[in-house]
Amino acid sequence: MQSIATDIQGIPSSGIREMQSLGLAIPDAIHLEIGDPDFNTPLHVREAAEQAMRDGWTRYSATTGLLSLRERLSAKLRDRNQIEASPQNILVTAGSTSGLAITIRAITEAGDDVLIPDPGWPNYYMMCVGARVNAIRYQLPPAQGFVPDTTDLDKLVTPRTKAILINSPSNPTGAVFSQSVLEALLEFALRHDLYVIADEVYEEIIFEGQHVSPSTLSTDGRVISLFSFSKTYAMTGWRLGYLVASDSVIANCTKVQEGYVACASTIAQRAAEVAISGPQDCVREMRAAYQRRRDLACDLLIAHGARFYRPNGAFYLMLDVSDTGPDDLVFCKSLLRRQKVALAPGSTFGETSRGWVRLSLAASEESIRTGLQRAVAELADLRVSMR
Ligand SMILES: Cc1ncc(COP(=O)(O)O)c(C=O)c1O
Repeated sequence: MQSIATDIQGIPSSGIREMQSLGLAIPDAIHLEIGDPDFNTPLHVREAAEQAMRDGWTRYSATTGLLSLRERLSAKLRDRNQIEASPQNILVTAGSTSGLAITIRAITEAGDDVLIPDPGWPNYYMMCVGARVNAIRYQLPPAQGFVPDTTDLDKLVTPRTKAILINSPSNPTGAVFSQSVLEALLEFALRHDLYVIADEVYEEIIFEGQHVSPSTLSTDGRVISLFSFSKTYAMTGWRLGYLVASDSVIANCTKVQEGYVACASTIAQRAAEVAISGPQDCVREMRAAYQRRRDLACDLLIAHGARFYRPNGAFYLMLDVSDTGPDDLVFCKSLLRRQKVALAPGSTFGETSRGWVRLSLAASEESIRTGLQRAVAELADLRVSMR
């Protein structure tokens, strides 16, 4: 038998999935490891999908997506992101996961380098392997508030470096990059002539500060912006996102999408038109709920003297468990076994967050309160047993 792709076989298994499957074997475990909104998609959006099915929107759309949706996205980008993009520069994708993978494939040659954040969403690494490019990690050091030191980036650049991927608000840290950090990143990209892949899927989940779309800071077409319906409208299962890019990049992305996915779900696209143009109170309400949970978690951790990073956006919180030992997965497994709480190990997001664990705020206040109380109890216990 012929061998199968060894680079794919070499992708490390996800610590998040590992904790999830271990947790599922414990019937009353508290799940704080997964970043999937616990809200249902707003009713008016679900009703729009029902209507779309009744009206026969059940066939392929154009590869680029329905023009009627792209027109609404163009208006949304102008009004909410200050990005001027015509519908021709928008590609509707099957979730931003697919959009990101398509982008990486569309702009690179095999063997190129792409800079990805560390800590960062593990799928970035997988996509780079899928496109046969080298994922080079740049650090977001905890001591600097999980924000990159742009003066450190130059040494990572080689003649094969094609792009830098930026994710703000960030998964797993919840850090929101300031405009000056984004300007420094764009200046770096310009200096080395790199594409900037801006993952903005958490754009609407901001508690303090403001989301600045990197594309507004650059006019030469080097920024490729990725958005999603998943987090903003609690639509993770609908698989719908979109990307915005220059003519030549969109043309290549469209070809890759044609070959890999054909198009995003037409039913989901019809519902998304209603999500994007309909009332936005649902977005505000979910944001307020995440903020209440963030505040609850921070107050509790402060009261217990725990070390953590206070997130300004997204729905995650990083907790420092380094004084229980070097291996955060060991902490997570012990917490699950003894206290029945599942968290995500920091090292699964990169070496920079080794010794940390990620808590998802996409869970009820009760689960967050109980889960964190047990986590700080476990921290105290393990510290004592280390002495
Ligand atoms: C940083 C980041 N980008 C992109 C995605 C993908 O979202 P989707 O494919 O549902 O649009 C996720 C999902 O967790 C994420 O955390």
